Amino acid sequence: MRTQVGIVGAGPAGLMLSHLLHLRGVESVVIDLRTREDIEETIKAGVLEQGTVDLMNQTGVGDRMMRDGFVHHGINLAFSGTIHRVDLYELSSGRAVTVYPQHEVLKDLIARRVADGGDVRFGVSDTTVEGIDGDQPVVRFVHEGQRQQLECDFVAGCDGSQTYTRFLIPEGTIRTDFFRQYPFAWFGILAEAPPSSDELIYAHSDRGFALISTRSPSVQRLYFQCDPATNTDDWSADRIWEEIQARVGTAGATIKTGKIFAKGVLQFRSFVCEPMQYGRLYLAGDSAHTVPPTGAKGLNLAVADVHALDRALGAFYDAKDTGLLEAYTQTVLKRVWRAQHFSWWMTSMLHRFSEATDFDLRRQIAELEMVTSTPSASRVLAENYTGLPLT
Ligand code: DHB
Repeated sequence: MRTQVGIVGAGPAGLMLSHLLHLRGVESVVIDLRTREDIEETIKAGVLEQGTVDLMNQTGVGDRMMRDGFVHHGINLAFSGTIHRVDLYELSSGRAVTVYPQHEVLKDLIARRVADGGDVRFGVSDTTVEGIDGDQPVVRFVHEGQRQQLECDFVAGCDGSQTYTRFLIPEGTIRTDFFRQYPFAWFGILAEAPPSSDELIYAHSDRGFALISTRSPSVQRLYFQCDPATNTDDWSADRIWEEIQARVGTAGATIKTGKIFAKGVLQFRSFVCEPMQYGRLYLAGDSAHTVPPTGAKGLNLAVADVHALDRALGAFYDAKDTGLLEAYTQTVLKRVWRAQHFSWWMTSMLHRFSEATDFDLRRQIAELEMVTSTPSASRVLAENYTGLPLT
């Protein structure tokens, strides 16, 4: 088999890249270890930046998102007994976020690739990639019991945080020490309940952080800061609701409860590798970087990476121009580090650190006061939350 771009990983980065390349007439094959059902059903985050929403609409995969997603023009920060609204729309000159789950984005992209005759192989095994330092790399894998050999011009490593492709970059040419582990995690639930709030609430409290998000009029997504070693089985539904209510209640919010049908613990890490390319291999999304979930940047960063990679590959195929490919790492890392800073900042401002003194808590409150009452500071939050323009 031969294709132009071999894409390892059918997550947001791999599928969006394949879709964008198809629209410019560049062929690709996407492979993934997971089954289609697994990819379409795994619950992840759910907040799309304006640029992600615009890209989905401009490329014809936004219909369901526009129908079923919820456009939010603001978010709430709860602290010191009060809820403060940040008007994202007003402060970012008309930008907003859309709450639409990541696995629904993946369903839309898969359906579109299939409808466009795209080659997406699920449930593959034994993937290897060779020859990234030459100009005809080869991806080998087993699909439906058959050994396959895929010759390509380029390989896109879109295989998430459990990446295989990043390890193809020789030691000594890549830095992987940009890493931070946080001393807490999020306990996340999905519940059959009506919304507790029209817009998201990010709550700072003496008991730690809590986040009230949503999925639909009848399904809600809520998170609260917990110990990374938390076992979800130790938490009864009553205990979960009491804990969330205790964290948001002091600010005046009342949680609407319902049947909890999913529970999980999300680990908190920041990571970036530099560079994000080597020879004919280009990394995109979580294979190259991870952000803590506060601020919901993960999926959006993956989309931004492949938006740049698609343009760079386009310049190569249209005009044999390698300039954008050579500059890929430099181009995308600017945004990656901005998102790293934003996610770290939101995390640090809102969470309770075990070693925090009363000084630290008062300082956090002062920062939250500034962010919600000083227009220039609110604007920094709004512009970053709704997302920088795609490059
Ligand atoms: C969600 C996740 C986030 O990390 C966030 O900052 C906001 C919302 C969510 O899953 O809904």
